[in-house]
Amino acid sequence: MISDFSERLIVQEVAPRDGLQIEPRWVETADKIALIDQLSLAGFSRIEAGSFVSPKAIPALRDGDEVFRGIRRQPGVTYVALIPNLKGAERALAAGADELNLVMSASQTHNLANMRMHCEQSLAAFADVVALTHGVAVSLNGSIATTFGCPFEGRIDEDRVLQIVDAYLELGMHGLTLADTTGMANPRQVHRLVQRVLTRVPAAALTLHFHNTRGLGLSNVLAGYEAGARRFDASLGGLGGCPFAPGASGNICTEDLVNLCDEMGLDTGIDLMHLLTLSRRLPALLGHEMPGQVAQAGRNCDLHPIPENLPR
Ligand code: COA
Ligand code: ZN
Repeated sequence: MISDFSERLIVQEVAPRDGLQIEPRWVETADKIALIDQLSLAGFSRIEAGSFVSPKAIPALRDGDEVFRGIRRQPGVTYVALIPNLKGAERALAAGADELNLVMSASQTHNLANMRMHCEQSLAAFADVVALTHGVAVSLNGSIATTFGCPFEGRIDEDRVLQIVDAYLELGMHGLTLADTTGMANPRQVHRLVQRVLTRVPAAALTLHFHNTRGLGLSNVLAGYEAGARRFDASLGGLGGCPFAPGASGNICTEDLVNLCDEMGLDTGIDLMHLLTLSRRLPALLGHEMPGQVAQAGRNCDLHPIPENLPR
């Protein structure tokens, strides 16, 4: 069971990036900006607002520059940009991102499929990014995709993940994300690895990123929380997925996570009703139903009228 109810759980909203990157329907720049502006009012302290990658790789997010310039920034919100290389870093800095999220996979094969580079080439590119940002007021987060399993290679050795953690720390990253790109993690694995990583970095610098591909997303959150993690990525409506990972599906759903936290007495600072309103608009924007469950079921406190003609 959750041992410390007084602790705050930080949710980083990733729908504008992980959520939209895989959507087949083009979302207008103005609609992306409106979504981010609404999310900024829901109580998040961190929003991944887009990526600066090759427009050929991810056409859905090719307007990242305009999106970052167009949003109405709320004080206290960190706007994060995912980047794969130096060019991405230059674009993100020019567009005013507060934090760069540098992504590489633990799996060599997934990194080749996703980033068209070997892991060593990604790390060399990240060293250039670190040099570029020296003296610039921007924070750097290093993400490790396929940490808990790879759709091509299967099991990923924990020591391999820890080597990348060490490489990121040596580069001078301020934060780290362990990402379960295609929902292969299980709670025991999460608990074990988080405990090991937290011997190297403080909880404030660690984010866990789960996809609900096999239905274990929220179980993995609780296992990570129990092991000491306090920051989690989640996506409005349960959108999301990597187009270069076969079988990828949505992130854990933000409103389902916030509902879980509300019910268990964990403070997120996020307004669940506001999220539900936003989530219920997504089918009209994207042309399909969302996998999230609480937007369909309602909150526990959204009661139904008592049926008439009940037996006395
Ligand atoms: N932003 C915009 N354009 C970029 C770019 C960036 N960050 N990085 C490279 N490009 C452009 C180059 O200028 C070049 O353009 P040109 O064809 O008009 O000359 C083209 O992309 C190819 O550049 P190259 O360096 O050879 O890249 P590549 O084809 O080997 O692809 C990546 C490497 C990393 C750019 C690409 O695989 C990528 O963007 N991957 C990200 C995928 C992703 O976002 N996955 C989901 C999130 S984890
Ligand atoms: Zn993801």
